[in-house]
Amino acid sequence: MLLQRIAHRLEACATPASSTLDLYQNPLMMRSHTHHMSNSKPLRSASWFGHQSMSGFIHRSWMKNQGHPEDMYDGRPVIGICNTYSELTPCNAHFRDLAERVKRGVYEAGGYPLEFPVMSLGEPLLRPTSMLFRNLASMDVEETIRANPIDGVVLLMGCDKTTPSLLMGAASCDLPTLGFSGGPMLNGKFRGEDIGSGTDVWRFSEMVRCGDMDSCEFANAESCMSRSIGHCMTMGTASTMASMTEALGMGLPENAAIPAADSRRNRLAQEAGRRIVDMVKEDLRMSKILTRDAFENAIIANAAIGGSTNAVIHLCALAGRIGIKLDLDDWDQLGREIPTIVNLRPSGEYLMEEFYYAGGLPAVLRQLGEAGQLRKEALTVNGKTIWENNSDAHNWNEDVIRPMDNPISEKGSIAVLKGSLAPSGAVIKPSAATPELMKHRGRAVVFEDIEDYYNRIDDPDLDIDQSCVMVLKNCGPKGYPGMSEVGNMGLPPKLLKKGITDMIRISDARMSGTAYGTVILHTTPEAAVGGPLALVQDGDIIELDVANRVLNLEVPEDELEQRKAAWKPTPSAMESGYQKLYYDHVMQADTGADFDFLVGCRGAEVPRDSH
Ligand code: FES
Repeated sequence: MLLQRIAHRLEACATPASSTLDLYQNPLMMRSHTHHMSNSKPLRSASWFGHQSMSGFIHRSWMKNQGHPEDMYDGRPVIGICNTYSELTPCNAHFRDLAERVKRGVYEAGGYPLEFPVMSLGEPLLRPTSMLFRNLASMDVEETIRANPIDGVVLLMGCDKTTPSLLMGAASCDLPTLGFSGGPMLNGKFRGEDIGSGTDVWRFSEMVRCGDMDSCEFANAESCMSRSIGHCMTMGTASTMASMTEALGMGLPENAAIPAADSRRNRLAQEAGRRIVDMVKEDLRMSKILTRDAFENAIIANAAIGGSTNAVIHLCALAGRIGIKLDLDDWDQLGREIPTIVNLRPSGEYLMEEFYYAGGLPAVLRQLGEAGQLRKEALTVNGKTIWENNSDAHNWNEDVIRPMDNPISEKGSIAVLKGSLAPSGAVIKPSAATPELMKHRGRAVVFEDIEDYYNRIDDPDLDIDQSCVMVLKNCGPKGYPGMSEVGNMGLPPKLLKKGITDMIRISDARMSGTAYGTVILHTTPEAAVGGPLALVQDGDIIELDVANRVLNLEVPEDELEQRKAAWKPTPSAMESGYQKLYYDHVMQADTGADFDFLVGCRGAEVPRDSH
């Protein structure tokens, strides 16, 4: 009824040909009128706002209730600002201000900024794990972008999963897109020393478990660790994914490391707002940036920074969305000879603040380029190649960003292991592991799932010593569900008390990017689908040889066949709701744990609405 009345009114008040609105009668008229577009492609937003019709009226009129002036509808690019602000995501809780900074830049460049929220995934609170919702959030992003009059989009990303979920969702639409990270927290300060998010929590927690720290001191450390806005300031998953955004060319130079509390982060946000308007004019879409070369640069950069193992899963999933073939062998081969030169925790000593002051990712990319390791022609969001952006970067502190001939780890890559225990692969981060354990044979001590681990790990009678291999099952994509970050399971207190600080741990889980240890993760196929991990029993011998990329279960074939025949899957507890969708469609870790039906780029075409 309302719409009928509007239609009648429009007919009765046919606008004179000279009116402003007539300029919108079709997108071509509008484009020829305006100076905003330099390419020949009509703006998507014109099909919403560029018509003198009932639907044009509806699209403009309701938007005007926010006080937007008439000239916002003169054919200028509409820029979506995809915001993961949430008070439930503390790492992104400053994003309202950041969005305003981006808007300033959009207005300055002649665009029309429209901010919208999407599902925000915060690591500290979400249960059972934020990874359960990464693909769901990516669907929110993809569908919101496609369904709205957006010509280009700035993605505001920070806490771990907010980066891949936004990049993945946007990649499936393939509009001009600029990734903007919220920046790390300032260094934690506790009892006169710098402490890092996550990494020092693991350390303190083990100190408490073996009696070296009391619970009062442990509580004091809480507020000392997180003392400013921003995300984890170790080279954990958030800082890694911010670095990946920059190395992929999806973020502006310096995107990765400027602290959230540094005024230069706000300056960069404003520049991002200016730049995205030009990206629309240039039709610089994600698919022009996310090429095979871009992913190779990201893998190489990840090795150099000692980045998180989670990057493997997220980049494989992102590549799948944009149609680039990327697999575990690429990670192993491309990163194998790359040293880790960034001396940040958990692999090294420093934190993101020092990384920024030392030169940040540009200084790393310059060294990689000079060593012939960078795909220099890869295009980035500012329209320049990655080499044009970084070839003159400075390194101001060679202890934080080491020279290539003095790395913190000779072979910094994420190593991909294969063998009878992991036919489709498993990963380990050598720079965070104990060198003496990289070649080892040991007796398996098996935990059937995380509850079994929690129930028995503190038992003084647990039959385990430091030469054993701890095996945790049923924590993969389907098993946990969501592939929780429990792979760096704590050592038994009775061994901690003896001063043992590391043991080999194997699981189908993930590990926090802030964690460390000789931890083998993402074992594929996972136990919940009957992978060999499901068949391991207490006392089996496991062989690890990282140099030769081997992970074997030394059990005779016929014995394994018998165990396999007796193995029964645990029925899924997820009978309905989103979790059933997740369980039915999540793929294995080696392909990025995306949903099978989300792989690929579906573009931004959308049928017109029904008005
Ligand atoms: Fe948000 Fe670490 S908890 S980045």
